[in-house]
Order: sequence, then structure tokens, then C-alpha cells
Amino acid sequence: MAGHSNYVPQSAAAKWLESRLPVISLMRGSFVDFPTPKNLNYWWTFGGILFFVLIAQIITGIVLVMHYTPSTTAAFDSVEHIMRDVNFGWMLRYLHANGASMFFIAVYIHIFRGLYYGSYKAPREISWILGVIIFLIMMGTGFMGYVLPWGQMSFWGATVITNLFSAIPLVGEEIRTWLWGGFAVDNPTLNRFFSLHYLLPFMIFGVVILHVWAFHTTGNNNPSGVQPKTQQDTVPFHPYYTIKDLFAIVVFMILFAWFVFYVPNYMGHPDNYIEANPLVTPAHIVPEWYFLPFYAILRAVPDKLGGVVAMFGAIAVLFVVPWLDTSKVRSGTYRPLFKQFFWIFAAVCLALGYLGAMPAEGWYVTFSRIFTVYYFAHFLIILPMLGFLEKPRPLPASISEAVLKSGSGTPAGAAAAPETK
Ligand code: HEM
Repeated sequence: MAGHSNYVPQSAAAKWLESRLPVISLMRGSFVDFPTPKNLNYWWTFGGILFFVLIAQIITGIVLVMHYTPSTTAAFDSVEHIMRDVNFGWMLRYLHANGASMFFIAVYIHIFRGLYYGSYKAPREISWILGVIIFLIMMGTGFMGYVLPWGQMSFWGATVITNLFSAIPLVGEEIRTWLWGGFAVDNPTLNRFFSLHYLLPFMIFGVVILHVWAFHTTGNNNPSGVQPKTQQDTVPFHPYYTIKDLFAIVVFMILFAWFVFYVPNYMGHPDNYIEANPLVTPAHIVPEWYFLPFYAILRAVPDKLGGVVAMFGAIAVLFVVPWLDTSKVRSGTYRPLFKQFFWIFAAVCLALGYLGAMPAEGWYVTFSRIFTVYYFAHFLIILPMLGFLEKPRPLPASISEAVLKSGSGTPAGAAAAPETK
């Protein structure tokens, strides 16, 4: 993780290690001395929060596995056993189940932060693309994790989503059978979902390392979107941002704890406390809240294959956002028109989330269609056009000027030119 370290090994042992495996200078260069823009606001703490939640999910998950049985005859009962008999098992389970929701709350904030401040723009395209890959793996992990308690929603959610693959022309049915490991969602399906649910978080961890490496190579973006120019524009990561991130994590933990200890089932579905029954279909099959906008897009299209393409397209379009946004100015702070469209887009995403939870009938479908079209129009039409139509506000010459009235630390006469480099 690039970053110059001031570390000089003192002891003989430290010198010995440094000349063989310079981990200490690598860590110091990345998380102690790393020059970080001095104007990062609290939206920049969500990366650290996400890292914290990822570790919490891995730890609680590993302990849950010690008491869980991945078989269709025993899974539901083993989860009840965790809730009733295992010491603090209820807490472990609630931490893990609500942890998944907290992970998605944090990742959505992190993504929208990136969209607002143009963190996806050159030179940070790779950080962004790795982020979208993380998001995809997170969705796969969340989906398969929800199947494990083998409740009604687990079973029927898995049935609905795996059935989507049968819409693929020619090979769809074969793919579905291959995913199931049989001819219905059954024991082999549960087993492979369990195996993958255990594996994927470690893959997320690996991609997160690349993600951090990428934005440490380019340097962080910041609320002004202007690259640091002088030393006065940055501060060392430690203690400034270690303390700020830690404070944000503690505040986030309070919200997390409120869910776990006061409303642990608020974000879950009551039907998942009924054991899976392939002969009884629930009145409404709804995914977890964090999939709802995509579920609304899936159901908005009258054709099954079209719905699947639209749903995956809604995520795929994120990969090319860095090239769809044609504006030379990075941060939304200096883009008066973009700012308005950003908030309309955020409201449309929330509306799609609401519609995903409603039955697919009447006005709900009509609005889902309108908002689905808008979702794609935002990326494919509005973002590319804004770059040409909008007149951005003048940019500050430097981060110091953006933060301080006097602009101390700014080289005299520095031009306030638009920049993405
Ligand atoms: C497990 C999930 C993730 C973790 C642990 C993580 C971690 C981080 C951290 C620590 C930072 C630096 C601090 C900050 O900007 O908040 C960061 C920056 C960034 N993240 Fe993520 N991230 C995750 C997911 C994502 C996703 C899903 C996206 C986008 C789709 C994304 C896009 C970005 C971008 C573009 C930056 C650079 C922003 C900058 O340079 O300031 N990340 N991430």
C-alpha cells in the first residue's frame, strides 16, 4: 500500500526484520504516516466503519458455525438451539443478522458518498470498480446467508432467485439445475450455499485489500475534489483519522447495539420463524430490505428475461460510471445542476426500495416502471449530458483555500482551473 514511511528501525531485531520483510514500514506508511487530505468530512469514515463490520461479521459467523447444522432436516432447529441453548447464542445470531443490515446501510452511504464527490473519477476508477465487485460479492453473501436458517422466506427467496436463471435462453434450465444440485431447492442447495457463504467474506477481505491499495496509490479524494498540492493540504493518517474513524465506529456501534438489543427482528421477516415448507407458498415473497430496489427493477419489466437483464444491468452500469460522467469537475459541491439530479436519483432509489416491498400490482408497478427508466436515464443520459450543459462553480486553488478563508498554505496566484487529474 503505497505511501512513504518515516520509519527507521531502531533495535537490532527491527533492523533484521525490516531488511527481510518490511511489514512495519509498510503498515506505518499506510496507516500512520500516510498523507491524508486534511478536509475529509464524516462521510469519509464509512470505509473504516465497513472494515469494522466486515471483521465483526467474520468473527460472529465463525462462532455461529460451531453450533449450526447445514442440512434441511436440522438447520432450522439448530438455529433455534443457538437462540435458546447456546450461551449468548441469541446475541451472536442477532449481531450477525443485524450486522448484515448494518453492513448494507454503511455500504450504501459509502457508495452515495462516492457518487456525490466524484470519487469514481480519474485517477480512482480502479478503487471504484473494486468497490462494485465487493458490492456484488456482498449481495451474493447476504442472499446465501439468508437461506441458511431454512425458514419460509429462506426457502422461497432462494426458489424465486434461482428460478430467474431459467430465463436465460437455451442453457437457463441447465444452469438452474446446476445451481440447485438437483431438481429443486433442497439439501444440496443448502449445503453449497453454506459453503459459499463461509468462503465469500474472505474473498471480500481480499478485494478490500486491493481496494485500499488502489486509493492509497492515488491518494484519497476529498470533499473539494481538488488534489492536494502542498504539504499543508494533508495531515498524517495517525492520530487525526485513526481517532476520527474510531469515534465514528463507536457512534455506529450505538445504532447497531440499538437494533441488536431493542428491535432485533425489525429488519427481518416474521415468516422466517416458520420452518421451510415446499408445499406452502407465503402470501408475499420479499427479499431482505437491501435488495428491494433491485427487486423492484426486476418486477418492473413485464418479461422475465428482460427483468433479469434490467436487474443485473442496474449493478453493471455502476462499473462504467467513471466514463459516463463527462464533467471535468470532480466534487458535487461545485456542480449546481448535478447536485439537484443527485438528490432526485437518491429519492428514486429510496422509492424503488419502497416499491420492491409492495405487491407487484396496479400503481406500484406503474411507478416501478417510471423509476426504473429514471434509474438508467440518470447514468446513461443525465450524467453524460450534465458535463456539457452545466457551468460549474469556480474551484478553490487548493484544499487549504477550500477550508480556510485566508487560503493559507496556497501558492500565491494558483489558478482555479477545473481538474480531474
Ligand atoms: C467491505 C466493503 C468496503 C470497505 C471495507 C471499504 C473500505 C474503504 C476505505 C477504508 C476507504 C477510505 C476511506 C473512505 O473513503 O471512506 C474507501 C474508499 C473508497 N471506496 Fe470503499 N470500501 C468498501 C466498499 C466499497 C464499495 C461497494 C464502493 C463502490 C461501489 C467503494 C468505493 C470507494 C471509493 C471510490 C473510494 C475512494 C474514495 C476516496 O479516495 O476518498 N467502496 N473504501
